[in-house]
Amino acid sequence: MPTTSKCRICGDQVTEFFDFGRQPLSDAFHKPEFDFGKEFFFRLAVGLCEGCTMVQLMEEVPQDHMFHEDYPYFSSGSAYMREHFENLAKRLLATELAGDDPFVVELGCNDGVMLKVMAESGVRHLGVEPSGGVADVAAAKGVRVRKSFFDEATAGEIAAEDGRADAIYAANTLCHIPYMGSVLNGVRALLKPTGVFVFEDPYLGDIVARTSFDQIYDEHFFFFTARSVSEMARRSGLELVDVERLTVHGGEVRYTLAPAGQRTPSEAVAELLRREEEAGLADPSTLVAFGRKVEKIRDDLTGLLRRLKDEGKKVVAYGATAKSATVTNLCGIGPELVASVCDTTPAKQGRVTPGTHIPVVTPETFAADYPDYALLFAWNHADEIMAKEQAFRAAGGKWILYVPDVHVV
Ligand code: SAH
Ligand code: TYD
Repeated sequence: MPTTSKCRICGDQVTEFFDFGRQPLSDAFHKPEFDFGKEFFFRLAVGLCEGCTMVQLMEEVPQDHMFHEDYPYFSSGSAYMREHFENLAKRLLATELAGDDPFVVELGCNDGVMLKVMAESGVRHLGVEPSGGVADVAAAKGVRVRKSFFDEATAGEIAAEDGRADAIYAANTLCHIPYMGSVLNGVRALLKPTGVFVFEDPYLGDIVARTSFDQIYDEHFFFFTARSVSEMARRSGLELVDVERLTVHGGEVRYTLAPAGQRTPSEAVAELLRREEEAGLADPSTLVAFGRKVEKIRDDLTGLLRRLKDEGKKVVAYGATAKSATVTNLCGIGPELVASVCDTTPAKQGRVTPGTHIPVVTPETFAADYPDYALLFAWNHADEIMAKEQAFRAAGGKWILYVPDVHVV
């Protein structure tokens, strides 16, 4: 029976359209000796708000369960993403930050992958980052970091200490924060009247078009569209003035908000709103159909992995992503189907994946004894990974992908 909840943006009714069942924290990689009786689980389900059309999780996981000293996601782990953030930083420097003594704030600066460029350019900046371990890595790069969760109160303190900002930026962070009203009121208060808030997050349009259901996990609370973003911005005196589609992380949109009435919205905003209408992104039937496709991928993937096991093939996974927790826990994929998962992140190696407990090993272990098949959990980094793992292909190895459908390459 689909449940209902109260929208975190407008307070209207949210109606559930897909239930992923019992799920662990997607970034909780425990040591093998952990008492797994104490592993945290919650019900992961998504719904659509009948009022503002925001797609969101039905249940909220406490923020400090997810973002803490040992948060193991390091943004600099991908060379492609390092370049992506450096390019964004250079663009901001040439545009919004080109005036006298500019000030830029980043929410969720993580290991400083973007703000490092600001620090090196001598630009006044501040990263707001609650996860202590990654914040320390940013600080070691010369980035000025404040270890806290961003909200209206934090914004007021920053404005009092540093003055107002010319630009505020957030990548893959805003969609993590359920208390959106407080965050956007804070952004509005911290921005100069001429300033902008630029943020990029996974796009619901791409998630639906590609059935990339693994973008749905504890940390991703909201799934934005131009329409829902426009509505949430309006409630805090902000206006959606530009959008740009990005190919990173399987398809994102970079949104630009400005204080209402300060800038003329670009044609790209109207165009994306039109496309969303055509794609039916706010229609319950579109989202119910998405759910049916998720069930097909689940059945096809478990069917393939069971067949390969029966044939005696060696199968491992590649990339211990947060996203993959949704896949392994929805499909019931544990070490009996996928022997290990390789990942470059030291904070994940020697541990096991959340919920289904697949051991995380180093890329060297992967290379020491190539499997017959590698299930690509980090499919959003496919080009980068396949380019550096050509020896695996040369040894006869094949990749298994499950977005937009289950296929072997
Ligand atoms: N911007 C980086 C990191 C994304 S991961 C990138 O795109 O790769 C999300 C980050 O947001 C984490 O580092 C997490 O600690 C941080 N975060 C979560 N809640 C936050 C909040 N309320 N304010 C600021 N940062 C937050
Ligand atoms: P990512 O897909 O960026 O995000 P999320 O965890 O939010 O789903 O995670 C990529 C993971 O894959 C990360 O743990 C680092 C790892 N990785 C590798 O092991 N090798 C690589 O070449 C790349 C690009 C990533």
